[in-house]
Amino acid sequence: MPSNIHTFGSTDEWCAAMVTTLEKVSAEAIHRNRRFSIALSGGTTPKAMYTHWAKSRKTDWSRIHFFWSDERCVLSTHPDSNFRMAHESLLSKVNVPSSNIHRVPAEEDPMLASQQYEDEIRDFFGARTSAPPAFDVILLGLGDDGHTASLFPDTDALNVTDSWVVDNFVKKLKSHRITFSFPLINRARQVMFMVTGASKADVLADVIRHPDTSVCPAARVRPEQGEVLWFVDHSAAGKLG
Ligand code: 6PG
Repeated sequence: MPSNIHTFGSTDEWCAAMVTTLEKVSAEAIHRNRRFSIALSGGTTPKAMYTHWAKSRKTDWSRIHFFWSDERCVLSTHPDSNFRMAHESLLSKVNVPSSNIHRVPAEEDPMLASQQYEDEIRDFFGARTSAPPAFDVILLGLGDDGHTASLFPDTDALNVTDSWVVDNFVKKLKSHRITFSFPLINRARQVMFMVTGASKADVLADVIRHPDTSVCPAARVRPEQGEVLWFVDHSAAGKLG
């Protein structure tokens, strides 16, 4: 098993390992730069970990800046909102300054929202060049079709090289999504994939054992200088051998 893949027998063990890692890397970043930048993932998998993280007594919430690696184009109060899920499970329970919460303006026109969010990222990092900035951590999930963030197979965002945040129309969902692009994701210092459940066993085995970037977007997450960590439960790891 590759050393960057960590498997766990229970959800509690999986959550505890991720929180311990986040406590460590956030403390290191805060010591280095006086702040920690993280892009949260959406969907359902992260909720248990966010709930566990909210109980941490070793996290300096005042120095953490929260972004989202993707967002559905809905109001922040909508049940499908990734912001709402993170706010309910984590952000509403910890003393993070509201100015540290960088929500995607997903209620706006999708093109406008993606441009506004890229500007917010640019301002936060003080980026003056076209090169994407380096998030300390980007959390990602894995869809059973191999998508990650909102980079779905056969969508235009897969080929974007000149933007950091993209409005991506996902035909199979009949909806727009706002998503980080691969150039931004692949500048991260650390990418942490969260994969649980037997339904992900086939796609995870494909990504790890037979990464085919032409059909599996998640296989294209290859940080130039950063590292990729996989936090996987035994059900999802069932076909890794
Ligand atoms: C989203 C996510 C998406 C998610 C995968 C896995 O907005 O839905 O960012 O990339 O991580 O679809 O979703 P589950 O955790 O629900 O399986």
